[in-house]
Amino acid sequence: MDRRAEARVDLTAIERNAARLRDGLTGGAALCAVVKADGYGHGAVPAARAALAGGATWLAVATAQEAAALREAGLDARLLVMGALTPAELAVALDARADVVAWREGFVVALDRPARVHVKLDTGMGRLGTRDADEATRVADAVAAAPHLELAGAMTHFATADEPGDAFMPAQLERFLAWGGPLRERHPGLLLHAANSAAALRDPASHFDLVRAGIALYGLDPFQRDPAEHGLQPALELRSYVAEVKPCAPEESAGYGRRFVARAPTTLATVPIGYGDGVRRGLTNNADVLVGGRRRPLVGTVSMDNVTLDLGPDGGGVGHGDEAVLIGAQGGERILAEEWARRLETINYEITCGISRRVPRVHHRDGAPAE
Ligand SMILES: Cc1ncc(COP(=O)(O)O)c(C=O)c1O
Repeated sequence: MDRRAEARVDLTAIERNAARLRDGLTGGAALCAVVKADGYGHGAVPAARAALAGGATWLAVATAQEAAALREAGLDARLLVMGALTPAELAVALDARADVVAWREGFVVALDRPARVHVKLDTGMGRLGTRDADEATRVADAVAAAPHLELAGAMTHFATADEPGDAFMPAQLERFLAWGGPLRERHPGLLLHAANSAAALRDPASHFDLVRAGIALYGLDPFQRDPAEHGLQPALELRSYVAEVKPCAPEESAGYGRRFVARAPTTLATVPIGYGDGVRRGLTNNADVLVGGRRRPLVGTVSMDNVTLDLGPDGGGVGHGDEAVLIGAQGGERILAEEWARRLETINYEITCGISRRVPRVHHRDGAPAE
């Protein structure tokens, strides 16, 4: 390895995942690739390009600045800013030719230049959008009546799509339909959209005209199980290398606070990646790292810049410079972001978003350098 740590991102995997999602869409629904938060840590611009190559026709982000960055990189697809916007951010979003989301009449009145608007009903997420279907209808009618505005969409967002079998998502779907159906009859050009990745995989009735998929594009399982169950291929691998191998005698320790103390003679490897890179401190004595195609227990406290592994008494054949895979595959073994999420009691979204800027993203296509 040329660097202490890198996140290798397979753009072919993102392209295949996009194609897999698109092929599963019903009723002519289009795929919108959600690339906010730097493409969930994968690199927004290359991820967006790969998703478009795989059949997505829309992009979505959370912030105006994210929209501007995609346009600056030359991406031309329809683009939706899903998040709340201050007046200054609204100007940035419109300069980026992005569609925006509205749910208050005041916001529509403030839109004094051409804009494409999606109206959001809060059917149960309890976040953005209005809970009042009549207010949402008034906002939509106000947009449609303004000559410089286009009523582009009517949308909602599910709170529990990732909990298969729950009754709340069907209830949200019903509320959305009861509002969006009649609205579309009055405004036939309107796009209805509701589904995220989990909803798209769980219930085709949620597909409508557009599916806003993020996590699944990156080959991460929205249900926190194994992405292969849905034909998804993880795109990101987190790698480092063995920078130090040393014997460790009984009663010697590794790391801050001596949270690993050898009971018997063993061998330690130091891998120069730590919580400053996104290897969360909660993985202290609570993870494996692949070296030489085998799982090696991470022992001792995760530091800002280093972790230590227990190689066992004979050193397991590991030498200085050997590749260390924290997330990804090596030999016949693999460690999924979902495994980290389970160990850390979080979700895979937070794992890949948490890989810090200090870790270079190296984009490739099935192993060949991506230009
Ligand atoms: C409004 C909205 N739609 C769609 C998505 C995409 O969700 P997912 O990554 O679960 O597919 C998000 C992401 O959180 C979102 O906030």
